Amino acid sequence: MIDPFGRKISYLRVSVTDRCDFRCVYCMAEHMTFLPKAEVLSLEELDRLCSTFVGLGVKKLRLTGGEPLVRKNVMELFRALSRHLKSGALEELTVTTNGSQLGKYADELASLGVKRINVSIDTLDPKKFTEITRWGKLDTVLDGVRAAKEAGLKVKINTVALKGVNDDEVDTLVEWCGREGHDLTFIEVMPMGDIGGENRLDQYLPISLLRAQMARRWTLEETAERTGGPARYVRLQETGQRVGFITPLTHNFCESCNRVRVTCTGMLYMCLGQEDSADLRAPLRASESDAALIAAIEEAIGRKPKGHDFMIDRRHQGPAVGRHMSVTGG
Ligand code: GTP
Ligand code: 5AD
Ligand code: SF4
Repeated sequence: MIDPFGRKISYLRVSVTDRCDFRCVYCMAEHMTFLPKAEVLSLEELDRLCSTFVGLGVKKLRLTGGEPLVRKNVMELFRALSRHLKSGALEELTVTTNGSQLGKYADELASLGVKRINVSIDTLDPKKFTEITRWGKLDTVLDGVRAAKEAGLKVKINTVALKGVNDDEVDTLVEWCGREGHDLTFIEVMPMGDIGGENRLDQYLPISLLRAQMARRWTLEETAERTGGPARYVRLQETGQRVGFITPLTHNFCESCNRVRVTCTGMLYMCLGQEDSADLRAPLRASESDAALIAAIEEAIGRKPKGHDFMIDRRHQGPAVGRHMSVTGG
């Protein structure tokens, strides 16, 4: 699949549920209305959809949410998809998770061929963690991360940079990841979805400031290493560890975009920061043949936009796109 700007689409992110057991303040409002079950694709439908994309050249598949691991029987989907790893059609099957269910699933994920996972941890302070997630328990997540490490999974920690919330913890997070052998990525908050009165400007912390803070303590060496995602990485000369920065607002990476995303209702979004989408559920449910589904996918890839429209400034304080990150899974 090649888009109008010559970019090869080889990475699919699939949100398997819009539900989550946390309510991170930058991600969701406290009271969310989740989708009715009938609208959500079944695990069999998700398998068929993902497999069609694999047939069209997707090499990397990431299950996201909401929180993907709260979806009932989600391991059946991992099991079904792992056949593409065995056949060599798929190079990587991964998951982005809040870690709350990893204690339960880490071993199984590893045994199904998952090699690395991304876990969201914005703070190592238990009290702050509960404030950010509104009711999550840091201990449960840390136990989950430990279980993942013991199962042999490579862990990348995702930390959303939040002004006045975790900017005092940069060193602590870097040191902890260094000790534990985890990659770490700092992410700029993106204006997505109504989060109930919170002002994005109050949350927004440019990564350049955070980088400058790190540079006072460590020597940051630029690397060309990529993990297939939008993060740009540095290595810390003193420890050798890798730290990534995802900077959609201050340093756009759209020119090398290789991905599209599908929601749990089967809507294909060609860009995280644009509203245009294509309904894949209708062709999926209309026929057992994949022909119409493939045609819908190809047509949509043919109108993938050049880039997103995210911006945070004083003139524009509402969400750039109406849907929440949990709908398209980042
Ligand atoms: P790997 O590089 O494979 O580890 O994955 P990743 O960093 O792309 O994935 P992850 O699910 O950990 O997402 C981390 C952050 O990157 C989330 O906040 C995503 O919303 C953001 N992100 C991922 N892809 C894109 C993209 O295409 N555009 C933008 N603006 N943000 C993205
Ligand atoms: N801006 C940036 N990152 C976000 N995430 C969720 N909502 C946002 C947002 N508005 C992050 C989560 C998780 C990843 C999938 O996306 O913390 O690490
Ligand atoms: Fe759940 Fe992740 Fe959103 Fe937090 S950021 S509410 S863990 S989906």
